[in-house]
Amino acid sequence: MNDPMTQTASSSLLRADGLTKSFRSGSEEVVVLDDLSMGVRAGEFVALVGESGSGKTTLLHLLAALDTPTKGEVYFEGRRLSEYREDDRALYRNEKIGFVWQMHYLLPEFSALENVVIPQLIRGCGMSKARARARELLVEVGLENAAQRRVGELSGGEQQRVSLARALANRPAILMADEPTGSLDHRTAERVVDLLENLHRAHQLTSVLATHNLDLARRANRTLRLANGKLTDWVVPIVP
Ligand SMILES: Nc1ncnc2c1ncn2[C@@H]1O[C@H](COP(=O)(O)OP(=O)(O)O)[C@@H](O)[C@H]1O
Ligand SMILES: [Mg+2]
Repeated sequence: MNDPMTQTASSSLLRADGLTKSFRSGSEEVVVLDDLSMGVRAGEFVALVGESGSGKTTLLHLLAALDTPTKGEVYFEGRRLSEYREDDRALYRNEKIGFVWQMHYLLPEFSALENVVIPQLIRGCGMSKARARARELLVEVGLENAAQRRVGELSGGEQQRVSLARALANRPAILMADEPTGSLDHRTAERVVDLLENLHRAHQLTSVLATHNLDLARRANRTLRLANGKLTDWVVPIVP
């Protein structure tokens, strides 16, 4: 069956089952995700598309344990996130998932290198190891010459490259990106898309990307479309 539900088998690294999320808006209850199920296998690259306001960010937040569902469950390696203790949730967020946002959320006063070092220090890694890893990653994202520059002075494309390096600093299993090319011009976005695809392969990641960018969606193994709180498989149209 050509249905996202078929991916909910136990082989999924990450799985959502009957996920519902509603927000209260005044006296109204707005249902953003409505009994939604999906699964992502290890090594898969899944694109998530949907109109603005369809709930892509909400879904990524639930998958990343940055928020909790109103109903339903998220499973990582077959284990329910709702059964994690608070410190396990923190470990999951910090070590299993690398996140890239549309707005980079880097520390603008710090250098590119420092931005990639800091999450490693927070995790308890020693300084020299963290710096070596950060240098390696900055080379990989093509910023070997910008390692010492303040992030606030870098271009939008360069900042997203630093974000990618930072996301991978703690060797996550899963890369999640929320419209990572959303604020970039077409050519810059394309180069970030190339980089993302290369990093996905080189680091044997499992990637879930919310995007409006059809070029990015086209490179995914599967594209899921979010509309009216539900997910359906989607085939990216060929644009001449
Ligand atoms: N914390 C919140 N409180 C109330 N409503 C929210 C909250 N977060 C998201 N929403 C609503 O949920 C819907 C989906 O938002 P979002 O997940 O950001 O969509 P997308 O990322 O696809 O643009 C929107 O209508 C938004 O207003
Ligand atoms: Mg969003």
